[in-house]
Amino acid sequence: MSEEITALQHFDDASLDTAFAALAEEARLETASLTDPEAFRLHWLGRKQGRLKLISEAWLKSAPPEAKKALGIRFNQLKQQIEAALESPATATKSAVQGIDITLPGTLRTPGIPHPLLKTMHEIVSVFHHLGYSTNLGPQVESDFFNFEALNFPPNHPARDTQDTLVIANQHSRPSRDRLLMRTHTSPVQIRTMIAQAPPIRIVIPGKVHRNDAADATHSPIFHQIEGLCVDTNITFSDLKGTLDHAMKALFGSDVKTRFFPSFFPFTEPSADVQISCIFCGGKGCRKCKHSGWIELLGCGMVDPAVFAAVTAERRKINPSDDAYNPEKITGFAFGMGVERIAMMLHGVSDIGHFYSGDMRFLEQFA
Ligand code: DAH
Repeated sequence: MSEEITALQHFDDASLDTAFAALAEEARLETASLTDPEAFRLHWLGRKQGRLKLISEAWLKSAPPEAKKALGIRFNQLKQQIEAALESPATATKSAVQGIDITLPGTLRTPGIPHPLLKTMHEIVSVFHHLGYSTNLGPQVESDFFNFEALNFPPNHPARDTQDTLVIANQHSRPSRDRLLMRTHTSPVQIRTMIAQAPPIRIVIPGKVHRNDAADATHSPIFHQIEGLCVDTNITFSDLKGTLDHAMKALFGSDVKTRFFPSFFPFTEPSADVQISCIFCGGKGCRKCKHSGWIELLGCGMVDPAVFAAVTAERRKINPSDDAYNPEKITGFAFGMGVERIAMMLHGVSDIGHFYSGDMRFLEQFA
């Protein structure tokens, strides 16, 4: 868009005046009918092809030394005239009017909402807060000791196979208890809590856990659990049953019934799986509960004395006479549940992958 600049033949004041007057008039006419200030700016002040740049190359450089000053003064006047035109309020208004079409709808910012998983986690934790529990958190990169050994999974014991573990690379030079892995459950935070704090303990531990599971409609290699731990004098299996029965009714409705089945976890003895009456058919039997009327929801049990022994050994490294977790004096119960599974049941979600997809059409349903 830049036109050729014709070379100047004469550099006397009169010739310079004529040449610059023509340019000033050209700029003035353009300013008067200005519709696109940015194009005008580029046309005159563009760093590579702007008219002023071409003029300075064609004229200033070829001017005889005695004419350079006179030429420079006129050149600067022209430049100031163009800059002033660009800065004038009339030009500014044109830029603004051109940049914004006030008849277009504005940009809508939808308010944020808690993610359905966080919301569910919050709901579960809050049921226990009302029972006087507090919350604790722990690391997702965990040591073998906390994730397994202190929870009574001895090294190489087949019970470890139930939790397909993602391990951190290059750990073989370390003693086995210090080797790092992605925690497979939130239970290690039970150990961390008891080492740090004497009974009574009532805590819930929400958090992310990791397993080397292939993703499908009900599995994801990263998911969430909520762990619970209660340790005090005279804690019995009845306390465990009463607490979890209350929690399930608070979450799923007061009509829900619970039942406890014998199970196995290395860190609880006895252990149980908790089932709730099917919330879809009320216990009559349907496809969701595989026509049994019951749905299995969480694991629990009384804290195994071997766990208290591991905790005591750690506490005695700091205080050799520590006896806070003497199983003759205290007992406790623990439980663990999957957040995704509960969120899927509460909201009728059929594929776990929806939670991680970031699909607004899914998420908006929880607004
Ligand atoms: N940590 C177990 C798991 O991930 C769940 C669990 C079961 C936690 C029983 C507990 C418990 O605290 O007592 O499969």
